[in-house]
Parts: sequence; structure tokens; C-alpha cells
Amino acid sequence: MAVAPRTLADPWTIGAVEIPSRVVLAPMAGVSVQAFRRQGRRFGAGLVCSEMVSACGLNHANERTLGYLRIAGDERPLAVQIFGAEPELMAEAARMVEAAGADLLDMNMGCPVKKVTKTGAGGHLVDGDGELAARITEAVAGAVSIPVTVKMRRGVEDTSRAALHVGPRLVEAGAQALTLHPRSVRQMYTGEADHALTAELVELVDVPVIASGDITSRARAEAVLHTTGAAAVMIGRAAQGNPWLLRELAEGREERPTNDEVAAELVRYIREVVRELGERRAVPFLRKFHAWYLRRGAFPRTLRQELSTYESVAELEAALFAAAPGAAMLVARWDAELAALGDVEDDVELGLPISIFGGG
Ligand SMILES: Cc1cc2nc3c(=O)[nH]c(=O)nc-3n(C[C@H](O)[C@H](O)[C@H](O)COP(=O)(O)O)c2cc1C
Repeated sequence: MAVAPRTLADPWTIGAVEIPSRVVLAPMAGVSVQAFRRQGRRFGAGLVCSEMVSACGLNHANERTLGYLRIAGDERPLAVQIFGAEPELMAEAARMVEAAGADLLDMNMGCPVKKVTKTGAGGHLVDGDGELAARITEAVAGAVSIPVTVKMRRGVEDTSRAALHVGPRLVEAGAQALTLHPRSVRQMYTGEADHALTAELVELVDVPVIASGDITSRARAEAVLHTTGAAAVMIGRAAQGNPWLLRELAEGREERPTNDEVAAELVRYIREVVRELGERRAVPFLRKFHAWYLRRGAFPRTLRQELSTYESVAELEAALFAAAPGAAMLVARWDAELAALGDVEDDVELGLPISIFGGG
């Protein structure tokens, strides 16, 4: 009997961790705050990831860095990603991540940003024979009982195929899944993700491989899943301001949010980010999100400009409700549903951190 091809809606596992869909929300420094991850889960991402956290910062018990380890119940399953180049520091950081309640410990071996690579961490670990990367993986996998995973680029130089020999080494060292963003460190975000390399990696390892890079539509996601044999697809930039794409992938039906739905979701997102960061930090942080959301629907071009001038959430909400009059009712309906559930969280400011590192 023929086996049906896997679909994006199928559940799968990494180690013993059950993941309800094959759609993974990418870790993005300066973007993947808790509100972003919770929203991702609400829209059907099977797995969400924290932005990368410095192992060094965790080891120094830097208060800001420790804030990354605050995990909300409704974002799980969650992978917390750490970066560093010192096996023992990485192992200690991994213990802290496990103690905080993360489901998976992911290691960044792909970040191309100088601030990170100059310390030997990030993308430079997938180069040469991958000796240090393997030692880090072994130390970390030996330190925790949650599954350890690695996210990497193809290598440092443009035509590098280092991921194909380093990847299997990391699996031997204890990695229980690999994510491949098949661009080189030098490429940063230029050119295209070469998923032919993802297909080669899938052939070489017996753990799930997650395909990351340039997956922007359901057609592309299905094509990558089927042509590479990857266990799941990871969505990064295409999910910025577009959680509906995650639902389209996970549930298989086209999503065309109305202006009211876009504005209402943005208001909900604004409120959650404010709770997380406090209004003073949230307002400037949110500006890039406004631009991303307003690409959807048919809003006047001037609205984005207008939103960027506001300093308070009250002004932002008033402008959005004026532009999409039905949004207020949607927000009120959600508020009533939440109140009926009786689990409205305390209105406290969590003071969580946002990354100073960009790119990955
Ligand atoms: C703003 C931004 C921040 C990123 N930060 C991280 C990070 O902290 N850790 C990581 O592993 N990858 C990071 N990445 C890489 C993404 O996870 C993903 O692999 C890459 O963007 C390719 O996928 P895409 O084409 O779907 O965006 C970042 C990407 C962007 C655009």
C-alpha cells in the first residue's frame, strides 16, 4: 500500500517532544519576543523558538539575559536557542534553559552577525571539520535530558558544503534534530536558500531536519517539504506581521484577513507586547511591526507614517480603530471570551528583554 505523503498539518516528534504541526516559527533576534511566539502557536505553528540567548550572559546571571528564560504555558512546545563557543559555558546555559521549562534546547550555529562570529560562535562553527561544534554539542547533550537541536547555515563561504559533514557529526554527538538555512555566512540574506542541500542533508542523518529559508507561501512550503524529505518547514520573515500565513500552512486553507481582522490582531499584539516590555519600550519596538501588518489589507499609505509618530498605546489603538471601525468589536469579543475563561493574567509588566543581536 502506498504511504500518503506527509502534510504540513501532521504531528511529528523530536525525541519525546510532540509537535502538533510541521510548521515551525523561526527564531528571529529582535522579533521573537514572547508575544510573537504565543501568537505563532495560536495561529498553528507546531513549534516556536526564542531568539538567540547568550550562553555567556546566562552564566553571568545577567538579569536582562535571565529574562529570556521566562516561559509562558501557551507558547509550548518551545525551543530556547543559545549561542556561544565554549562547551562548558554552553552546557551550563543549557542546564538553566532546561530548569526554566523549555521543551527543546536549540544551539545557534548559523548567525552571520560579526558581534557573534568574532567570538567563534554562530555560523563560524560550521566550518572545517566541525570539531568545536561537535565538542559543544556533546557537552550540551550530556548536560540536559531535553532534546538538543542545532540550527545551522551551509557553511562560511558561498559554495561551502560544510553542513553536510558537520551535520552528521553533530548528530553523532547527540543532536536530535537539525535545522538548515542553506545560505552561507558570507551571503547573509542575499541570493537564495539552496534547498537541494537540505535534501542531501536529510539523506545523511536519521534525525528530523527542519528546512529554513525563503518559504513564503503554502505552495513553496509543500514543495520544500516534499522535495527535500524534511520533517518540517521553518517560517521566518514571511511570518512578520503575517500570522495568517502560519494558519494557512497548518490548516491548509487560504487566509485573507479583512482590514478589521488585521487591525484587531495588531491591537491584540500591541497589548501583549506592552505587557511584556512596558509601554515605554514597547512603542518604539512595535514600529517595525506596524509596517509589517499594514502590508496586509487595504490601509491608506499614510497610516503607517501616522502610527510611527505616536508615543502612546492609546493613540495607536485610536488610529487603528478609526482606520478599521469593525476592529474594536473584534477586540471586545476576544476580551469577553478571555474574561469568560476566567484566566485573564494579571496586568503586570514583565520587563522581558529584546535582543541586541540582529540576523541569524
Ligand atoms: C531579523 C532576523 C533575526 C534572526 N535571528 C535569528 C536568531 O536569533 N537565531 C537563528 O537561528 N536565526 C535567526 N534568523 C534566521 C532565521 O531564523 C531564518 O533561518 C532565516 O531568516 C531564513 O528564513 P526566512 O527566509 O523564512 O526568513 C534571523 C533572521 C532575521 C530576518
